[in-house]
Amino acid sequence: MRTVAVALALVSATIGATAALSAEDPLMKEAQGLFQPIPNKPPVVKDVVATPALVELGKALYFDPRLSESHNISCNTCHQIGLGGVDMLPVSIGHKSQKGTRNAPTVLNSVFNTAQFWDGRAADLKEQAGGPIQNPVEMAITHQHAIEMLRGIPGYKPLFEAAFPGDKDPVTIQNVEKAIAVFEATLITPNAPFDKFLRGDGNALTAEQKAGLRLFIDQGCASCHNGINVGGGMYAPFGVVEKPGADILPPTDKGRFQVTKTADDEYVFKVPTLRNIELTPPYFHTGKAWDLKQAVGVMATSQLGEHLSDDQISKITAFLHSLTGEQPMVTYPILPPSTATTPQPEM
Ligand code: HEC
Ligand code: HEC
Repeated sequence: MRTVAVALALVSATIGATAALSAEDPLMKEAQGLFQPIPNKPPVVKDVVATPALVELGKALYFDPRLSESHNISCNTCHQIGLGGVDMLPVSIGHKSQKGTRNAPTVLNSVFNTAQFWDGRAADLKEQAGGPIQNPVEMAITHQHAIEMLRGIPGYKPLFEAAFPGDKDPVTIQNVEKAIAVFEATLITPNAPFDKFLRGDGNALTAEQKAGLRLFIDQGCASCHNGINVGGGMYAPFGVVEKPGADILPPTDKGRFQVTKTADDEYVFKVPTLRNIELTPPYFHTGKAWDLKQAVGVMATSQLGEHLSDDQISKITAFLHSLTGEQPMVTYPILPPSTATTPQPEM
């Protein structure tokens, strides 16, 4: 009797597996046409050769709060590597506790975005890195003073010399930007269940996640959120079909319009990456949605004019959870000490 039961269970398991395989083949093929897996090795930053010395320098600069006027704020303050590359605040808090106007996007996998910032105003990570240093509500230090600071910390000189062996005077803002960009390019999160699925492992996603992926494609989410970062590759208006409420999309921030001054670009934002999205609440450039399910519901109505059922929203959200990859393991750097002649903080 027991044997029969086991045999029956085996037969039905086999049938189940076959059915799952034939049904998921087209889904996998379709997904492979729309998305690419995160590579296991950091990509090359344009025009910069990533030597270990350069990555080490970039890491030190990324974590060094003395790159801010108050000596209190580093890149990691708002883009914490242990918190999915964000600060988990609706909007960031910078110099003299000033609130910024936008939610901090993750730095993880940002190297794969085709432009940086919610409005795409920086072309790449090198161009981006200089921005927050001198932004008055972020680190609030002029580039000139940042360089005086680094020159005033004697231990940085050998680090810059090792990172830029050809340069006579390597402590420059351009080199700071290069080093930070090269370090940021190492902050990638490979081997998410979805990456394994894209590489051919049909068992990497649960049945619910596969149903969610099917909806994500069929409902049209993937028309904007696609490519290696499941986003990060194009711009779109927030509210294509229906404008979300003023709490989520206040009229003051016109997005890409502020960069291009073209009427068509009003309320246009970069389509953000959905990689590691479960780790990075709150959502949207305003940071107004704490619940990923709520964010999915808002997207469906505002971008697609679809009112999804709770069940559909749960499935899509389950799929989004499959986008969480291996988080970068970064050893906290020991920073070169200040001396009596290092410029002092301005509080
Ligand atoms: C006070 C908080 C704060 C600090 C400090 C800060 N950032 Fe940001 N970062 C932000 C916010 C907010 C945005 C989005 C701004 C926007 O889109 O207008 C952003 C955007 C970015 C982006 C673009 C990501 C994307 O997907 O568009 C990158 C990359 C980045 N920051 C890296 C850095 C680096 C490197 C440093 C240090 C030199 C740094 N940030 C310092 C808050 C901060
Ligand atoms: C027409 C293009 C478009 C479509 C279609 C679209 N999105 Fe978006 N998505 C965006 C844009 C643009 C944003 C940024 C909105 C903002 O905050 O300004 C965004 C933001 C998001 C966010 C928040 C990300 C974050 O880091 O804060 C999630 C989650 C999301 N989308 C999921 C989805 C899902 C799920 C669907 C399908 C139901 C979908 N999107 C359909 C363009 C689109």
